Order: sequence, then structure tokens, then C-alpha cells
Amino acid sequence: MTAPPGAALAEGPDRPFVVAARRLVTCDPSRASAADPLGVVEDAAIVVRGGAIEAVGRREEILRPGSDLEVAIEAAGVVTPGLVDCHTHAPWVGSRDAEYAVRMAGGDYEAIAAAGGGIVASMRAVRSATTDELAGALRARLRRMAALGVTAVEAKSGYGLDEAAERKQLEAVAEAGRDARLPRVVPTYLALHALPPEAGGDRAAYAGAVARSWLPAIAGAGLARYVDAYIDRGAFSVDEARPVLERARALGLGVRVHVGQFADVGGAELAAALGAASADHLEHVAPEGIAALARAGVAAALLPVASFTLRQEPPPVAALRAAGVPLLVGSDANPGTAPTESLPLALALAVRLYGLTVAEAVLGATREAARALGLDGVCGAVRPGLRADLVVWDLPHENAIVQPWGAPRARAVLRDGALIAASG
Ligand code: NIG
Ligand code: FE
Repeated sequence: MTAPPGAALAEGPDRPFVVAARRLVTCDPSRASAADPLGVVEDAAIVVRGGAIEAVGRREEILRPGSDLEVAIEAAGVVTPGLVDCHTHAPWVGSRDAEYAVRMAGGDYEAIAAAGGGIVASMRAVRSATTDELAGALRARLRRMAALGVTAVEAKSGYGLDEAAERKQLEAVAEAGRDARLPRVVPTYLALHALPPEAGGDRAAYAGAVARSWLPAIAGAGLARYVDAYIDRGAFSVDEARPVLERARALGLGVRVHVGQFADVGGAELAAALGAASADHLEHVAPEGIAALARAGVAAALLPVASFTLRQEPPPVAALRAAGVPLLVGSDANPGTAPTESLPLALALAVRLYGLTVAEAVLGATREAARALGLDGVCGAVRPGLRADLVVWDLPHENAIVQPWGAPRARAVLRDGALIAASG
């Protein structure tokens, strides 16, 4: 790839162009089978027109003799759908490196939070930043994510902890979301994350204010598509979270929840009852909770970077899989438990530490993640009708994507058929 990011790959907006690939991972269910869950096409060609995928097939079917289609990218390696990161706390500023050092020396994450550090430390940084500063930090982070092959990112607030600062985070997300040269962004209002000091320890009163006034105002301003709550020991209870999440549903928003990161307090059952799009973390979830998720069709978002830094045992992946719960993999990018921006790192850990197959990991960061973000008609697979969000990897095979490279291996990253990152 020689063209710089932002460069047009075709001469006019309606001129089609072709991405040819020695190996194409489509993630298209109509091409998938038990033996080939990723729907792979060897020696493939993708026709892109007006930012959308117009046709997908074998090279010789698409580039027939006499065809005047122009091959804009000739990929010697594997091409996949753009990666979709289903769980991030991306709009943060500041660093908690001192806390990380304390934790690595044996300090306890929950005890640090209870003593006014952790999430509340990030709250202080976010409250003192301007919207522009937050948006600038977020844009830079999204640019780095794009360089890793990510073309869609869920982005949560949750470090403001008062109405104005939560709105400021979500306004920064909206601003970054208007930039077509960055990954597409799905905004989530993380309404219940931690108690700010001024709440005086009164979780019920805080949750009441969120449900009564902050949430309706944020929904009315169109700043969120989903609402999240951290339901756990040391965080919010099911009873505190339920009215907030029910209100979110009544306002027409989707729900996704942090549950079972430290203890099973019934969050999975609540997620199921509310028809949540995903239940995230799930290191601690009982068989009843897994059955409830499966019955309600709630996806499990696995966040292995967080459990890695917290030195936790993996979630019950085999039981989730056996129950038929769709598995997603997210980075959980945040300054506390998952100080990373790398979805490929999360994929590597999902395979190495959680025992996901390569196909499960790839689907959990493409098609399944897109579905759980309400983007299933938009991206997450390479099939006609979807937007042309693609990654051309400097790697021969999808098996290599889940190796822990620690460096970007995407040669070209396309969103809506336009280059948003390129290397080499
Ligand atoms: O997903 N557990 C709650 N929320 C985040 C961590 C937030 C933080 O430590 O800043 C998580 O792990
Ligand atoms: Fe999280």
C-alpha cells in the first residue's frame, strides 16, 4: 500500500474498484459451514462502489476477461472485515500508571476504588478536561485503534459521574463520531459506574437522579444508543440498576451491562430480563445466569485484557459455548483494568487464556460484535450490501491475527471504502 490515509481508491465516488485477496475471511453466514465457520474464499475479489460492497466472489468470477474493473488493492495476505470493538471506555484522559504499579506490587483493585482511587481518579481527570480536550484524546485513540485494524468502536462514558461531565464525555464521542476518517463509533451512556464523592455513599439516591433526570436528558439529546451499568460487588446492585435500565428501555435505548467481574450478584439474570444486547465480563456467573442469557439471546462480551491485569481466572467459556451464548471479544480499553487500545491483543488473550478458537475470536470481533452493537446491516462481514469496512493484513492467515504481535499488522484499513489507516 502506498496511498496515504484518506486517499481515494477510485477516481470518482461512483467508480467501482476491486480489492483482490489471496485469502478472504468473509464472516458471511451464507458462506459458512461447520468445517469453515468463517466463510473463507481463496483467491477472492471484492467489488466496492460508493463505499459499499457490491459483489464478493472468486477472482475469476469477478474479474472476467474484458472486465474493466480496476484492482486498487492486490492483497498477498489475508483480508477480513474491519474489526469491531464491542466494549471500550475510550473517552478518557489522564493516566493511572501509579495505581497500576501499586496493583502489580499486590494492591487490590477493589480496595483502591473503595479508597477513592480507580474510576474516581479518572473522574477527576475527565471533569477537569474540556470537551475539545476529551474529543482530541479520543480522536487520537481511535486513530491508533484504526491502525490496528479496528473500524467500529463502542465508546462508553462513565468517568464523569455527574450530569454535565457525563454529557461532556458523550459530546466528545459524538464529535469524534462525525469524523468519517476514524472508525465508526457507537455511543453508550455508562450511567452507573461508580459513586462520585459528592454522593456521600448514597447509591440509591444517585441511581434515582440518573433514572429521573440525567438519563432522559441524555437520551433526549440523542447522545447515546445504549445504556450500561456496572452491577457487581462493590459497584451497583441489581435493585439499584434495574430502574435505570428499565428507563433506558422505555426511552428506546438498548442496554448492555458489566456483570460478574468480581462476584455474581444476579446481573446476568437482569441482563436477560431486560433483553440486553450483551452481558460483559462474566468471570463470575452461575449456571442459572448462563441459562438465562442463552434463553434471552444475550451475547457474552469477553474482556480478557481486564482479567489478565486483574490476575483473574477466565469466565466459564465452555459452559457459555455449550449453552449457545454468542461470544464477543472486546478490548475494554480503559485506564484502569485494561490499559490497552488493542483489540488484536484481546483476541490473542481470548485464544491463549480463554480457549476460544480462532474462528470464535474472529467472529466475536467482527460479525457477532457488529450484531451486538446494532450494526449488523452495516458492517462486521464481507458481503454485498454492507459497507466496505475491510482490513488488508500483512499476515498470511487469520491464525496469525491472534498471535500477540504487539505491533500493528494491518497494511490497509478501509471504512466505507476509503483508507483510514495504512502502513508499509
Ligand atoms: O470494565 N469494572 C468496571 N469498569 C471498567 C474499569 C474501569 C476502570 O477501572 O477505570 C472495566 O473493567
Ligand atoms: Fe468495561
